[in-house]
Amino acid sequence: MIKAVKGTRDILPPQSAVWNRVEATAREVFRTFNYHEIRTPIFEETALFARGVGEETDIVSKEMYTFDDRDGSKLTLRPENTASVIRAYIEHRLDQIPGTKRLYYLGPMFRRERPQKGRYRQFFQIGAEAIGLESPVLDAEIIELVSTLLGSCGIHDSRLLINSVGDPDSRGRYVAKLKELLAAHIHELSADSQRRAVTNPLRVLDSKDPQDQPIVEKLPSIHDFLNDSCRDHFAAVCRYLTDRGIAYEVNPRLVRGLDYYTHTTFEFLHGALGAQNAICGGGRYNGLAESLGSKVPAPGIGFSIGQDRLLMAVEDAKPAGFEPKPLDLFIAPMTEDAFQLGARQAKQLRQAGFSVEVAPAGKFKKLLELASKSGARFALLIGDDEIATNRFGLKNLATGEQQAVAAFDLTAHLLG
Ligand code: HAM
Repeated sequence: MIKAVKGTRDILPPQSAVWNRVEATAREVFRTFNYHEIRTPIFEETALFARGVGEETDIVSKEMYTFDDRDGSKLTLRPENTASVIRAYIEHRLDQIPGTKRLYYLGPMFRRERPQKGRYRQFFQIGAEAIGLESPVLDAEIIELVSTLLGSCGIHDSRLLINSVGDPDSRGRYVAKLKELLAAHIHELSADSQRRAVTNPLRVLDSKDPQDQPIVEKLPSIHDFLNDSCRDHFAAVCRYLTDRGIAYEVNPRLVRGLDYYTHTTFEFLHGALGAQNAICGGGRYNGLAESLGSKVPAPGIGFSIGQDRLLMAVEDAKPAGFEPKPLDLFIAPMTEDAFQLGARQAKQLRQAGFSVEVAPAGKFKKLLELASKSGARFALLIGDDEIATNRFGLKNLATGEQQAVAAFDLTAHLLG
C-alpha cells in the first residue's frame, strides 16, 4: 500500500479543527495589526532562494527540493517565504504605494531535513513581513505581533531571544575576526564546523556539537564589533520591547540559519517541544532586495512561526475555545418518510447555523448507537408517531434525558 512520503503527514479531524482555529486566530490578530494576506506560489525559480537565503546556508546547500522543469528551467519548492514575498514586492512595485507594507502568509514550506518530532519535510508556517521602513519601531511591532499571536493561542510561556547581527560593515569585520580565530583551531572543530569556518563562520556560533563548545565559548561577541548606528538600532528595539512589557533575553550567539539578516534577529523558544524548540524565528533584512538584483530597496523585518510546533504547544496548553466543536444534532429517522422530514428539518437548522447530520432510515437501536458514536450534543428521533404528531424525540446525548419537542421549538432547545 502506498503511504505518505517520509517527513510529510496527514492532518485529520478532529485535529484539523484545531489547525483551523489557530489559523482563524492568527488572521484575526493580523487584522488588528493592519497586516494583509499575500499568497505567493509554492514553487519559484531556484535562483531566488540561492541568492536570497544564501548558497552557503544548510537550507540552500542541502535541504531544497529542486527539479528541472520540462523547458530546462530550475525550480524549487519554497523552503521559506521571505524571499518570495520580497520578489513579489519588487515585481509588483509595491514600493510605489505610500506607507509601510504589512503582509502576512500561511502555508506549506519544504525542506529535506532529517524528520523527527516537530521537524518535517513539508511543514507549515504562519508568517509576516513589514517592508519599507528601516526604523526600529517596526522591529518592535513585529515582535509584539508574534507575542500577541502566541498569547491569543494560549501560549504564555515562550522565551524570546534577541540579537543584532549588525550591518555589512560591522558583520564584515566580525566575520573576518572569526575566520582568523577559527583558522587557528581548525583541527579541533567538528567536520561541519571545519567547513563552515571557511564558508560561513557565523554558523559555527550556533553549532550544537559538544566538540566545538570549548572553542565557540571563547569567541568574541558580535556586540563588540557593532558600529554606532547598529548599536543605536538594537538599543532602541530593546527599549521599545521593555516599554511594552515584553520580556527578552539578549543572546549574542543567535545568528540564525539564513544569510539575509541585518540588525535584529530573534527567536521564540517553547519548552513543550523537545529538541526542536524554536517555535518562531525572524529578523530584519535590509539588503535582501538588492541581493535579488533589485534597484528598488525593500528594507524590512518579519517572522515565521512553525505552525506544526505551534500546534504541539497549543495541544499542550489546551486553551479554552480551541477544542473541536461537537456536532449539534444527529437526526435518526426510522422510516423513509421520517428521513424526508428529517432532511427538511436539517435544511432549516443548518440555515440557522447548526451543524446537523442526517442518517439514512434505519432501526431505532442501531441509530441510537450511531448517534452516540457521532459525538453529537443531541439526537432527534423521528418515526411514524412523530410524523403524525409533528413532535420529535429530542435526546440529550450527554445526560440521556429525552423530551418531545415541537418542530418550531427545536432551535430554542439546541441553543439552550
Ligand atoms: P526559520 O527559522 O528557518 O526562518 O523558520 C521559522 C520557523 O519555522 C522555525 O522557528 C520553526 O518553528 C519552523 N520550521 C523550520 N523548519 C521546520 C521543519 N523542518 N519542520 C517544522 N518546522 C520547521 C524562516 O523561515 C524565515 N523566513 C523567517 C523570517 C521571516 N525572517 C524574516 N522574515
